[in-house]
Amino acid sequence: MAVTIDGKQIAEDVVSKVKASAAELIEVTGITPGIAVVIVGEDPASQVYVASKGRKARECGFHSVQHTLPEQTSEDELVKLVETLNADPAIHGILVQLPLPKHIDSGRIIQTISPDKDVDGFHFINVGKLGTGELETAFVPCTPEGSMLLIDRILGRDLSGLNAVVVGRSNIVGKPMFNLLLAHNATVTIAHSKTKDLPGLCRNADILVAAVGRPQMIKADWVKPGATVIDVGINRIPAPERGEGKTRLVGDVDFADVAPVAGALTPVPGGVGPMTIAMLMANTLVAAHRSAGKTPPRF
Ligand code: GUN
Repeated sequence: MAVTIDGKQIAEDVVSKVKASAAELIEVTGITPGIAVVIVGEDPASQVYVASKGRKARECGFHSVQHTLPEQTSEDELVKLVETLNADPAIHGILVQLPLPKHIDSGRIIQTISPDKDVDGFHFINVGKLGTGELETAFVPCTPEGSMLLIDRILGRDLSGLNAVVVGRSNIVGKPMFNLLLAHNATVTIAHSKTKDLPGLCRNADILVAAVGRPQMIKADWVKPGATVIDVGINRIPAPERGEGKTRLVGDVDFADVAPVAGALTPVPGGVGPMTIAMLMANTLVAAHRSAGKTPPRF
């Protein structure tokens, strides 16, 4: 039976370390790590995410500001706000919550964020640094970075000789996850909707990362016995057993089916989810250290 990887606990450990390091930075340099989160429009899910990022930042002792802009904000206005934040010495990390309204070119906004403040790791400079193994100065996207930390807790930092399969090729999760696993010496394959014999390929994985957004797609017979399985999916499905109109969250992995086969497995919720926000705090702390010319802690 698989070990359930407790993402909530590991995220709390990361946040404790961030808090202690932030307090030390403030004491030694007088610099308080600062994060600005920008949200455009009224998407309820985005509002919940942004509020929890602000809460966690305050819990870490950070200076935290939120800019809430109306849906009809123009692309040029948003560019101006990002440029103001780029120039603000009290702000070390900038996060523009996605998705943005359709009339705004997300790519232009992301590329406007200073790479030194790009705590999401979405700017081409940071994507390029990750792709070329310049991890010391890069910002890595929070979800793959958090997933990597969970893998590290189970298998250690050196994944030499292990086969990893990442299911999903998004810019936010699949591709950066591929690069991180490769940087840790795993032999990595990226699979996606056009891959032939996906179950057979997954069965070859010592490390299986699922990031496709298909509820409970990965079943027991897709998993190599003893594999480490990281479920990045967060899908809301109907749960009539909880009452009429009720829903529940499930991952891309069928947890109950896979648990008897896997060696270690993340639950949903309580696996990768809490790690994402913890790594956003870690990245902001790192940004503040770099701007102060101090060596940041490792996570
Ligand atoms: N929307 C959903 N996830 C994310 C994320 O990691 N970063 C940003 N900026 N927006 C998101």
